[in-house]
Amino acid sequence: MNTIKSYVEAHKQRFIDELIELLKIPSISADPAYTQDVIDTSTAIKVSLEKAGCDHVEICETPGYPIVYGHKHISDDLPTVLVYGHYDVQPPDPLDLWESGPFEPIIKKTEIHPEGAIFARGSCDDKGQMYMHVKALELMNETDQLPCNVKFMIEGEEEVGSESLAWFVERNQEKLANDVILISDTGMISNTQPSITTGLRGLSYVEVEVTGPNRDLHSGLYGGAVANPINVLTKMIASLHDENNHITIPGFYDKVEELSKEERAEMAKAPFSLQEYKDALDIDDVYGEAGYTTNERNSIRPTLDVNGIWGGYTGEGAKTVIASKAYAKISMRLVPNQDWREITELFKTHFESLAPKGTTVKVTPHHGGQGYVTPIDNIGYQAASKAYEDTFGVPAIPQRSGGSIPIVSLFEKELKSKTILMGFGLNSDAIHSPNEHFGIFNYLKGIETIPLFYKYFTELSK
Ligand code: BES
Ligand code: MN
Ligand code: MN
Repeated sequence: MNTIKSYVEAHKQRFIDELIELLKIPSISADPAYTQDVIDTSTAIKVSLEKAGCDHVEICETPGYPIVYGHKHISDDLPTVLVYGHYDVQPPDPLDLWESGPFEPIIKKTEIHPEGAIFARGSCDDKGQMYMHVKALELMNETDQLPCNVKFMIEGEEEVGSESLAWFVERNQEKLANDVILISDTGMISNTQPSITTGLRGLSYVEVEVTGPNRDLHSGLYGGAVANPINVLTKMIASLHDENNHITIPGFYDKVEELSKEERAEMAKAPFSLQEYKDALDIDDVYGEAGYTTNERNSIRPTLDVNGIWGGYTGEGAKTVIASKAYAKISMRLVPNQDWREITELFKTHFESLAPKGTTVKVTPHHGGQGYVTPIDNIGYQAASKAYEDTFGVPAIPQRSGGSIPIVSLFEKELKSKTILMGFGLNSDAIHSPNEHFGIFNYLKGIETIPLFYKYFTELSK
C-alpha cells in the first residue's frame, strides 16, 4: 500500500469522528438565531487548520461572517494552490422530514452507500467536502509529501450569496495570489464513474409581490369584481413559460451560448439512465424544455423556477377571503454569457408589464452571480484527471453541473486564475434537502485523491 492509502487507513476513524464534531454545530448562515454557531464554526476550522500543519491561520473579519484564511509556504519557486470551501450550511427545514436530527450526525448504510454515509446538514455541502482538504493537508504534512505552497480560504456565507467573500477577495488580491483554485463543493456521476465539474450555472434570484385591494376582502362580497392578487400572480407566473417550456421573457435567450452538435454528442456519452433517474424521484416522466435531453436541461440550458409562493389563507379549515397581496420567490439559473444583472432587469421589466389594471407589482432582486466554464486544456484539469484515474482506476469524465457557486467567476476576474472543481458528492446525497448525507467512501476517497492533485499539479507546473 502506498503512503497515502496507508495513512488514510490508519486514521480514518479519527477523520470521521472529527467531521462528526464539526457537523454538530448548526452553522446556518441564513438565520440570525444561529449567529454564534456560525462564528464558533469558524473558530473550529481555524483550530483544525493549525493542527493540520498550516504555518499561519487567521480569522479575517468582514462586514458579515468571518473568513478563515490559512497557509503553508514552502518556497517562492513552487506553485500555490488556493483551496476554497464554505463552513455555513442551509437551514434544515422541513425538520419533520428528517429521520434523525440534522445536527446529530449518525452513520447509516444505504443502497448507494453500502459502506455507510454520515447523515447531517452540511455533511456533503460543504463541511464534509471542505474538511477532506484539511485532512489531505494533514496527510501531506505528516507524510512529508506536500509538494507546493497551499492557501485556504473558507467562508461562512456561501449559502446566502458570498457577499462578504466578494468584499474580501477584492481587497486581498496579493494575499490570495495563487496558480490554481481548488474546490470540492460539487458532485460526481457515481462512485464508480468519477467526473470533474467543468461548468456551473449562474443565478438570478428575485422576489415578487402583487398588490390588489388595500385590504383582505370577503370573497363573496367582492369576488369577481376586483383583481385577486393570487389569481393574477399565478397567471403571470404561468405565462413565463410557453407550450414548449421556453421562457417567454423578451431577450432572455439572446446571449445564451449554444453548444455545437459535437459538444452535445460528447455530453451524451456520460453514463445516464432515464429510468433510474425517474425511479429515484418517483416520477413517471421528466418535464422540461422541448428539444433538449434531461442532462442538457439541467446543465447547459437556463431555467426559471418558482421556489416558494404564498398569500391568503393557508391555515386549518376554510376562510373565504381575497387577499390584498400575493408573493413568490423565483430563481433563474443562467448559462455562460448570460449576465445575471441584465437578466434580472429583463425579468423586472417584463414581469411588471404583465400586471393587469387594478394591481401593482413589485420585483425585488436578491443575490445572483455569473456562470462559469472551465477549459479542460490546462494543467489544473489534467492534474485532477490523473489524480482521479489513480484512485478510482477509471478516467474521470468532464461534466457541466446545474448548480451555482457564483464566487467562482469573481475569482477568475479578481485573482486571474482558473478553478478546478473536484467534487465528491452524489446527486442522491440530498444536499439542501432533509436527510442530507455524505458517503464514507466518498469522504475517504476525497482525502486520498486530493494529495495526488497537488503532486501532479506541481509536476506539470515545472
Ligand atoms: N455546493 C452548492 C452548489 C453546487 C452543488 C454546485 C452541487 C454543483 C453541484 C452551493 O453550496 C449552493 O448551494 N449554491 C447555491 C447558490 C448560492 C448563491 C445560494 C445554489 O446552487 O443554489
Ligand atoms: Mn456548497
Ligand atoms: Mn449549498
